[in-house]
Amino acid sequence: MKPHWRDDFPLIVERGDVAYLDNAATTQKPQRVLEAVRDYYRCTNANVHRAAHRLSDDATRAFEAARQTVAQRINARTAKEVVWTRGTTEAINLVAAAYAPLVLGEGDEVLVTELEHHSNIVPWQLACARYGATLRAVSVLPSGELDMADFQAKLREHTKIVAVGHVSNALGTVNDLETIIALAKAVGAAVVVDGAQAMAHFDVDVQALGCDFYAFSGHKMYAPTGIGALYGREEMLQAMPPWQTGGEMIERVRIEATTYAALPFKFEAGTPNIAGAIGLAAAVDYLNDIDFAAAQVHEADVLAYATASLQQVEGLSIVGTAPHKGPVLSFVMDDAHPHDVGTLLDQQGVAVRTGHHCAMPLMDRLGIPGTVRASFSLYNDRDDVNRMVAAVRKAGTMLVA
Ligand code: ALA
Repeated sequence: MKPHWRDDFPLIVERGDVAYLDNAATTQKPQRVLEAVRDYYRCTNANVHRAAHRLSDDATRAFEAARQTVAQRINARTAKEVVWTRGTTEAINLVAAAYAPLVLGEGDEVLVTELEHHSNIVPWQLACARYGATLRAVSVLPSGELDMADFQAKLREHTKIVAVGHVSNALGTVNDLETIIALAKAVGAAVVVDGAQAMAHFDVDVQALGCDFYAFSGHKMYAPTGIGALYGREEMLQAMPPWQTGGEMIERVRIEATTYAALPFKFEAGTPNIAGAIGLAAAVDYLNDIDFAAAQVHEADVLAYATASLQQVEGLSIVGTAPHKGPVLSFVMDDAHPHDVGTLLDQQGVAVRTGHHCAMPLMDRLGIPGTVRASFSLYNDRDDVNRMVAAVRKAGTMLVA
């Protein structure tokens, strides 16, 4: 039986020609998100926090209600701890630009992992270069899990920031954040979590986690592109200087000097993505209203079924075999470049991502140029998996021939 959530997603219903298995890259959008964005532009569109007129009031109310909705979803203490960004990448860059200078100096270290997406590596490389600090990376085991002994060995009193993903975009590994955060806190390091791949699939409670920052993107959790958020503990955000400047983020500007707006506006220069924030709140409402636990069970079933099915294909190896994974399945095929496999799958109506998945250090560690990656969502089912497996088998014969 088809998962009933499929009916909520017009593209999934209307594009039956495609088995969409590229959800780690971006998810499809439910009808209510499409309607929320359309209705905003049709009925409420105005700039926020600026004008005396009623449309601006309505837009501001909807925009700030959206912030509240997102804050509640992640259990932030207050909506002031939610800063709108373009997505995860911008959120991590914000921390690297505004928090790193407060704590990094000569001899200090930032600790990332070899599992990270480039957007949780490159901002730290720049910050380290700027402040004379050193970037170190925790090794990854062949299973795709972090080497926790290496993590402990590399974590030192000089470690000022630990930046780690919640769920690996390339392999699906779910990291043991509880242990990582406890160990990092024991040496006084701040913890920045890249939550891009977690928000659509797991309950995230930033207070229970105890992280200092948690970054995520709307478009990977059924919302539009171009909107995301940075959760930051209030005292951290208070201590940080602005990182981009202009309208909206100021309190009083004189030619001689400027004072800044209160949180979270201090970090939101310029007209924000108002429709995006409203769309993100609609996506959160969707996640709040469905039986999320049932969706998690369904996604785990699809992942297990896909794993078992692909294991039967001769010459195929699954990359990333951690016991606790998000719905991501990476694999390689003997003598076939992942891009060639991906092209042959596409010709058969199966949409996957191929390549290094913006995780080149991970591919280097695993000694492969890249993988073919199927990533599932609540609207995928065993039929999609069967289509993929049939397409993979056919690709196998074509690549050998
Ligand atoms: N970071 C996204 C992915 O892993 C684009 O596909």
